[in-house]
Amino acid sequence: MLNGETSQRQLGRRLAPLTPPGMLLFLEGELGAGKTTFSQGLALGLGFTDLVSSPTYALMQEYPTPQGRLLHVDAYRVRHPQELYEMDLERLVETARLSLIEWGESFYDDFPQAPVLRLEHVAGQPDVRQMLRVR
Ligand SMILES: Nc1ncnc2c1ncn2[C@@H]1O[C@H](COP(=O)(O)OP(=O)(O)OP(=O)(O)O)[C@@H](O)[C@H]1O
Ligand SMILES: [Mg+2]
Repeated sequence: MLNGETSQRQLGRRLAPLTPPGMLLFLEGELGAGKTTFSQGLALGLGFTDLVSSPTYALMQEYPTPQGRLLHVDAYRVRHPQELYEMDLERLVETARLSLIEWGESFYDDFPQAPVLRLEHVAGQPDVRQMLRVR
């Protein structure tokens, strides 16, 4: 249970240093579930203190953390996976310190080793989220 934005960010912050270099994480959960908020925490955990915004309009964004690049992809508006492969997604993931893909269901089969984390609202508690590892 994650009570509020701050604890969501904290979880990301604690988790990031435990991830192996080159790891890809898929983040799922409905609009506003807090995927980007969690991503901000992961960035903080890699020592990157600038703002991590939602990459919805850019499709992907790269942040230079002291530990290497953090790749943040929002696949919400991607109609065909090819769009991202043409942007060299596979190489970017391989060379990044950590990669995060929001709304990446259509890539799950292509990256079978990547864990899938799901953020869910909790009924009646607007500031609480639950995080589950679904793969
Ligand atoms: N646990 C929480 N309780 C209340 N508000 C939260 C919580 N986590 C995030 N928020 C707020 O909800 C809004 C949406 O969060 P965020 O952008 O992280 O969601 P998202 O899952 O990335 O959404 P999208 O699918 O649109 O990319 C933000 O304004 C954020 O501050
Ligand atoms: Mg988001």
